[in-house]
Amino acid sequence: MHKNIAVLAGDGIGPEVIAEAIKVLQAIEKKYNHSFSFEQALMGAAAIDATGNPLPEETIKTCTSNDAILFGAIGDPKYDNNPDAKVRPEQGLLALRKALNLYCNVRPVAAYDALIDKAPLKRERIEGADLVIYRELTGGIYFGEKRESENGDVASDLCKYSKEEIIRVAHLAFKAATKRNNKLTLVDKANVLASSRLWRSTVTELHQKHYSTVDLDYLFVDNAAMQLILNPSQFDVILTGNLFGDIISDEASVIGGSIGLLASASVGDKYALFEPIHGSFPQGAGKGIANPIATILSAAMMLEHFDMHVEAKAIQSAVNNTINNSIGTPDISPEKSYTTTEVGSHISKLILQ
Ligand code: IPM
Ligand code: MN
Repeated sequence: MHKNIAVLAGDGIGPEVIAEAIKVLQAIEKKYNHSFSFEQALMGAAAIDATGNPLPEETIKTCTSNDAILFGAIGDPKYDNNPDAKVRPEQGLLALRKALNLYCNVRPVAAYDALIDKAPLKRERIEGADLVIYRELTGGIYFGEKRESENGDVASDLCKYSKEEIIRVAHLAFKAATKRNNKLTLVDKANVLASSRLWRSTVTELHQKHYSTVDLDYLFVDNAAMQLILNPSQFDVILTGNLFGDIISDEASVIGGSIGLLASASVGDKYALFEPIHGSFPQGAGKGIANPIATILSAAMMLEHFDMHVEAKAIQSAVNNTINNSIGTPDISPEKSYTTTEVGSHISKLILQ
């Protein structure tokens, strides 16, 4: 099969982890007789530096004219620490999600046996945890009206959701639950927020109409944040809005042992983008210490999207094997660590065996 892939390496460690994901995809090409083309485009701080715009028109064109998009990371401290910056790298990613209508972000989290005793949480808490977060990605407070008073003393962000926005992502989450352990937890703040109450009534209605065989429950986000680290194996599919999903997915990454392992897919009805959940880790850029596995597993999710299931499994097994043999970057293998490139090469080699 031939597939065209748009590649947005982005900022910080983005280019390093993307290079390893490409290496692994090239091993898949060879092993399974596929051909992939990679078309690079600029986004984030890299794009601001080159064009003044975090998401140049040309980049959107590259994204829409390929079969899928592989994305590295975004963000640069020279913008983070400057409250007066008019353009920010993150705007590029947010604008791309919006432009391509990537309304659903899927973030799987599982505990790796080999890392359980190294994880910050106790073995008995995380053993057997296997969950997936469905995060709404193009609405809510991220995209609501933003206001700043002229004197700069007051600012607000509006959290707005429509039934339609909730329904489309909820369908995908319910469908995922039917293919997993048939349980869906809606995470919201319905005791305080009107938008959360709309989530509750809409999801309840959808459940009654189409997915009554799925076990549905509800948790307030503050309690969910606690439950996630107290007893993560109670969860199967978590469905939530944009901001809550952003926060609890970083939290959930602790279960997996490192944020450097968490992959994600951002999908809409037409386009799909695959991205690690970690950021650009600028302090780690250029040092060969970034964990490439989250991006490599995001590439595996991309292969699933292409219906290349055997190939995706091959990446996942190679990753498991690598982790089990303690071949890891310092975040998961502090005693004896390997570089970003070594980990990527090891995974590629295993695929080619
Ligand atoms: C993520 C990131 C982004 C987000 C940032 C970089 C805008 O944290 O994908 O989780 O907040 O969505
Ligand atoms: Mn985030």
